[in-house]
Amino acid sequence: MLVLLKALARLSGWSSLVCRLAVVILRNPLRLLGWKAYERWLLTLRLPVGGLALANDPAIVEAVLRNRDGVFPKSSHLTAILRPLIGEGVFGQGGGEAVKDMRKAYFLALAGVPGEEVERVSRRLSREYLARWQAAPSGVAVPRELSRLTIDIVTECLLGGRFTPAQSEAFVDAFFTYHRRASAFLLMCSGNALRDTPALLGRMELEPVGLSLREMIQERFVTPWLDRPEAAWPPFHRQVLDTLRRTSGEVADRAVLEARLLDEVAVMILAGHETTASVLSWLLWELSGGALPDGDRPQAESVDALIQESLRLYPPIAFFLRDVEAVTEFRGKTLAAGSAILVSPWTLQRHKGLWQDAERFCPARWLRKEGAATHDRNTFVPFGGGSRLCPGKHFAGIEMQAIVEEIVSGATLRRVDSTPPRPLGALTTRPHYDFRLAFGAP
Ligand code: HEM
Repeated sequence: MLVLLKALARLSGWSSLVCRLAVVILRNPLRLLGWKAYERWLLTLRLPVGGLALANDPAIVEAVLRNRDGVFPKSSHLTAILRPLIGEGVFGQGGGEAVKDMRKAYFLALAGVPGEEVERVSRRLSREYLARWQAAPSGVAVPRELSRLTIDIVTECLLGGRFTPAQSEAFVDAFFTYHRRASAFLLMCSGNALRDTPALLGRMELEPVGLSLREMIQERFVTPWLDRPEAAWPPFHRQVLDTLRRTSGEVADRAVLEARLLDEVAVMILAGHETTASVLSWLLWELSGGALPDGDRPQAESVDALIQESLRLYPPIAFFLRDVEAVTEFRGKTLAAGSAILVSPWTLQRHKGLWQDAERFCPARWLRKEGAATHDRNTFVPFGGGSRLCPGKHFAGIEMQAIVEEIVSGATLRRVDSTPPRPLGALTTRPHYDFRLAFGAP
C-alpha cells in the first residue's frame, strides 16, 4: 500500500491528468481504513511522508485540541492546500500568538452582530431563496443554492453587502472546482514533502482557481471599502485593521493592507458558508427521504434536534489534521516528531463505542437527551475545540435554526435525483454532486 501511494503521488507530480485521478481516488482517506476507523481508539499507519495517527480516544482528542504547549499545530499540508485561496489568513495558519490575536478580531466582529440581526437576515434571505426554488418545477441544485444563500447571509451580516446573483453563481462554481482539485492527503503521500510539494500543488492547479476566487472577493468586499473613511467600514474590516495595526507596522502600505484584509475576508466567507451549507445539504437530503413522519412539521425544539443530528452524522469539517512537533506517546504508541495526528469528527461521531445505532440518522436521540447527556466536548466536536474552536459557532446555530424553520414550515421537499450523495471529503464533507430537490407548497 505504502509503495502504491508513493507511486501515485510521484506520478501526480508529472501530469495534471494523473493528479486529478489521484485526487479522486484518495478523496476520502477514511475509506482506506474501513471499519477500523469506527471501532478503534487509536490507529497508526505509515504514509510515505511519515506516520499518521487517527485518534478516537476522547483523552487524546482533549490533548490534541487543547494543544496547551503548542505541540499540535495545524498541519503544514493543510496550509499549503489553502494558501492559493486564503493566503496568510488565520484558518490555514499553524498557531501561535499571531493566530490568537487574529482570532480575537473574528470573535469581536461576530459578537458585534446581535443574534436578532443574524436571525432577521437569515429568515429574510431564506424566504427570498425559497420563493425562487418553489417557482422551479424541475427542482434546484440544493448544495449549490445553499452555498449561495449562506454566503449572502454571512456577507450581509458581516461584510457590508452581497454578491450580485451572477457573481454569486460564478463564485460557488469556482469554489466547487477548487474543492474537487484539493487534496492534503495526496501531498502526504509524496515521499519527500519539501521537494515534491510545489510540483504536486502545481499539478492540482489550485492557483488559477484560487486567484479568480480572490479577485471576486477583493472586487466586491475589499477594495471598495479602502476608498471610504474607516468609520464607514464594516465591523469585521475594522477589527482586522486594528489587529494588524497592533501586531505589524506594515498597514501604512495600502497594497499590504489590502492583501492581508483580503486573506481574512476570504477566510470569513469560506469558513462561514461552506460548513453551514454542507450540513444543511445533508439535512435536506435526509428530510426529502422521509426522515420526518408524513405531515409532521417540527417545532423549534425538534428543528434543533435535526440540526444536532446532522452535525453528528455529517460534520462539515471531517478532519482536524495536526502536525506532531515533539515525540509523544499515546496508548503505549510512540508518535515521532514530524508525524501527523488526525482528530476526525466523522469517525468520532460515528464511533461504535460512543454512540448507539451510530450509523442511523436519528434526531430523536437529542430529544431523549441521549445525545446531549452522554456526549461532551471530546466526543461531539463538529465545531472543533480548544485553541481553534470555531468562532462562528453561535452565529451558525442561529442561522441554521432560522433557515431550517423557514424551509420546513414553508415547503414540502421531493427528490428529483435518486443517486445518494457521498461526502466529497477533501476540504469539507459537502455532497459530491449538486443533487436536485423540488420544493412544493406546504
Ligand atoms: C455548521 C456550521 C459550522 C461548523 C460545523 C464549523 C466548524 C468549524 C471548525 C471545526 C473549525 C476549526 C477547524 C480546525 O480546528 O481545524 C472552524 C473554524 C472556523 N470557523 Fe467555523 N463552522 C461553522 C460555521 C461557521 C460560521 C457561520 C462562521 C462565521 C460566520 C465560521 C467561522 C470560522 C472561522 C473564521 C474559523 C477559523 C478559526 C481559526 O482558524 O482558528 N464558522 N469552524
